[in-house]
Amino acid sequence: MNFSKSISGLQPSATLQLTARAGELVRQGRPVVSLSAGQPDFPSPGAAHEAAARAMKEGRTRYTPTAGIPELRQAVATKTSQRRRAEYQPAEVVVSCGAKHSLSNLLMAAVNPGDKVLIPLPYWVSYPEMVKLAGGTPVFPSSGQPLITAEDVLGASSRGACGVILNSPGNPTGCVYGEKEASDLADAIASTGMWVISDDIYEDLVYTGSPSPHVLDSRPDLRSRTAIVSGVSKTFAMTGWRIGWAVAPVEWTKLATRVQEHTTSNPCSISQWASLAVISGAAEAERKAMLASFHARRDLICSLLSEVPGLDFPKPDGAFYVFAGYPKSLGIGSSELCAQLLDEADLAVIPGSAFGREHRIRLSFAASEADIRTGVQRLAAFIAKRSNR
Ligand SMILES: Cc1ncc(COP(=O)(O)O)c(C=O)c1O
Repeated sequence: MNFSKSISGLQPSATLQLTARAGELVRQGRPVVSLSAGQPDFPSPGAAHEAAARAMKEGRTRYTPTAGIPELRQAVATKTSQRRRAEYQPAEVVVSCGAKHSLSNLLMAAVNPGDKVLIPLPYWVSYPEMVKLAGGTPVFPSSGQPLITAEDVLGASSRGACGVILNSPGNPTGCVYGEKEASDLADAIASTGMWVISDDIYEDLVYTGSPSPHVLDSRPDLRSRTAIVSGVSKTFAMTGWRIGWAVAPVEWTKLATRVQEHTTSNPCSISQWASLAVISGAAEAERKAMLASFHARRDLICSLLSEVPGLDFPKPDGAFYVFAGYPKSLGIGSSELCAQLLDEADLAVIPGSAFGREHRIRLSFAASEADIRTGVQRLAAFIAKRSNR
């Protein structure tokens, strides 16, 4: 059989693959420490479980409207209005099966064949493949900065890019825009006419004490061509419930809903009721405790890694990742390094190559303090041994 050429050309998700391989080794009894997870290691909040049980008991188990139950769309509109200090309406909200699905629907709705879309470098593994799936061509920034800059936008626009995906706090670097960077970026976008998808899935995991600056803060006029993506996965440790959302101008949400109508229909009805409970404030204690814990772990892993000779990394102000560079003199690419770390040192981390950057690895601190300590020790011992070869 001749399979689809465009689908056969897609890259597998390195993060999911490596996590699966580490799980397999654990099942075989190996003492693997995993600093590879892209998800909080906490249980989902009690309020989510209770709301889900109630929804099932009350028979809320049928199809819902494609774009989500009106109550959840209203709650998302209210939350986004408060956060962005603007009025958003439920019609501007589409609830989907996770933020990944929201991003995919938005791209399907916005991209024409061959359209160039600027994505960050290093990128979250799914951005390039999603752009390609939608028929577009990913283009990359030239500044070498961990987050897309004003200069990157102007450069890409002059090369014909019509849209940009922003991600702050970012995966894999944990970097967060400063106010000036965000407002310069917003001005550059405004001058080009490019559309924006702002992937804000880590918006609640910020360790600076203030919210992550956003392009809409200084340029509310960008709203007519900006889509915001978020969800409950990372904020509330609810990755398996699969609820994310897009907030965008109505013409865009209508088309994104049409894509969803013909692919998945609505996201899980029970998960929608659970998500409504947590975003309406029923899980604030758990959310704050989790944030405090990530903050402490961020400080711990950064202090431990800074003692390992040869590693360098930007200190993450958000999310739960450190993207660390290792010396090229080790003479090994990141995929091979991570394969050896797993096989020889029982440590799972993700290769930088999966994010488009070589000689780096992504370490997740969504792990216990004990695992963070053991993981960094194993990494340090491995690097020391290889350096002495
Ligand atoms: C940057 C980024 N965007 C989106 C997602 C997808 O989130 P969800 O699990 O809600 O689909 C992830 C998950 O790892 C992510 O890191």
